[in-house]
Amino acid sequence: MKIKELKFMYRLSVLIISFFISFAVRPILPSIAAEAKYEFTTDWVASHANLWTEHLKHLKGKPNIHALEIGSFEGRSAIWFLENILVHPTSSITCVDIFEKKYGYEDRFDRNIQATGLAHKLKKIKGSSQKVLRELEWNSYDFIYIDGSHVAKDVLLDAVFSWDLLKVGGIIIFDDYQYKVDRYQFLKFRLSAKSRLAPWRRPKIAIDAFLEVFQPYVEVRHKEYQVVVRKKEKVVLKEKLGIVERSLNKIKKIL
Ligand SMILES: C[S@@+](CC[C@H](N)C(=O)[O-])C[C@H]1O[C@@H](n2cnc3c(N)ncnc32)[C@H](O)[C@@H]1O
Repeated sequence: MKIKELKFMYRLSVLIISFFISFAVRPILPSIAAEAKYEFTTDWVASHANLWTEHLKHLKGKPNIHALEIGSFEGRSAIWFLENILVHPTSSITCVDIFEKKYGYEDRFDRNIQATGLAHKLKKIKGSSQKVLRELEWNSYDFIYIDGSHVAKDVLLDAVFSWDLLKVGGIIIFDDYQYKVDRYQFLKFRLSAKSRLAPWRRPKIAIDAFLEVFQPYVEVRHKEYQVVVRKKEKVVLKEKLGIVERSLNKIKKIL
């Protein structure tokens, strides 16, 4: 093969490879560009985005959809809800977080929310959710994301206080149902193994208790690392007797 032909083959293969690479990379370019304007140190969103898309798709783009988020940290999940579900101009989110001063994430939350250009659709409430939720308006949220304190007592209070705030037909999403305090946290917080593994330290027993007590009133739509429930419209508390039971009762009376 002549040098000229070799050069041509080389250029052609570079062209073909670049063409295929550009197609492979193109779908992720917008998300990389979008991410670039935010400051995040963690990602507790990507692994749940498909689940949220599936269970909140009926709310996407609708007017007057209102969400409540308990635990916002740097704003990553709130921003996801704003950009993917609460896309109608009249929809909004209320974010409740203690914004602990010593960790300094409140400033990052504020900057991230400003960077969305959607700050007018977000109401930030600084304080413990176990206090704040008692003051919010009943029946006013279409979905509630519970991702604040992981201590079982707090999760139970968040769930119970969220109940009356949620509209009928509304969705509650709990995070960290299967959460375990890992070795790193055990070292970081200098917890003994007994304390680290105590059930009261994790959301599971609270979510289980909530599901049991509210069993007639909720429909469980998903139960893995996250739990998704829907507040039922129609609650049947008294089940009528079937024909067999009615007939048996009649026979008993005769005998
Ligand atoms: C796991 S982070 C939330 C992450 C956020 N939802 C996300 O996915 O980007 C938990 C947050 O809950 C907040 N928090 C902890 N205890 C709380 C409480 N009692 N009331 C309100 N927020 C609380 C913490 O300050 C922290 O920002």
